[in-house]
Amino acid sequence: MQFDIITIFPNIFDGFLTESLLARAQKKKIIKISIHNLRKWTNDKHQTVDDKPFGGGVGMVLKVEPIYKAVLSIKGQVLRNTKSKQNGKVVLFSPRGKKFDQTIAKKFAKLDQIIMICGRYEGVDERVAEYLADEVISIGDYVLNGGEVAAMVMTETVSRMVPGFIAKVESAIKPDFPQYTRPEIFKLDKKTLGIPKVLLSGDHKKIAEWRKKNS
Ligand code: 6GU
Repeated sequence: MQFDIITIFPNIFDGFLTESLLARAQKKKIIKISIHNLRKWTNDKHQTVDDKPFGGGVGMVLKVEPIYKAVLSIKGQVLRNTKSKQNGKVVLFSPRGKKFDQTIAKKFAKLDQIIMICGRYEGVDERVAEYLADEVISIGDYVLNGGEVAAMVMTETVSRMVPGFIAKVESAIKPDFPQYTRPEIFKLDKKTLGIPKVLLSGDHKKIAEWRKKNS
């Protein structure tokens, strides 16, 4: 599965891509993540990606043209590499979008490619949402500086659902019961913090019942 992230801050993704499970999955060719600097698709000396909003107002708006060129070029690259019909989506991140959740992540994990457009500044020319994006997605009811963190959230969540990403299929889903590890007794100030005795019993049936009850 191919993830293409279009951003004006490509360095934000450095550690995210090279640490831990995401690095391993890329080495194993389970996923491929490419970060694209939007400025690559500008022609002027200053590599302008934004402009003043029509109608006035504060801040700047990301221009439609560089984003259009970026999406077209990235789609073309993949077509040349695979020669097969691609089952992909173009996603625009915006606080006004549809709320991202595990159900969407599961559906997206079946795609061959997700092209993500990270909005920045005070907005993105609305024609990107109307004509270029298949989906406009928000990751929650709060305001971020831009779509970069949202792109990381989507990349990580969808990657986990791609077959082979996680060695044990069961651990792809969150353990929705409480977990404990050593020490059995932890002393905190004057308190002695223990753990539920059933977990030490070795009785797998009882343990399963306890976990069900506490999920
Ligand atoms: Cl996708 N973008 C921004 N700027 N803020 C957000 C968001 C996205 N999702 C939640 N808040």
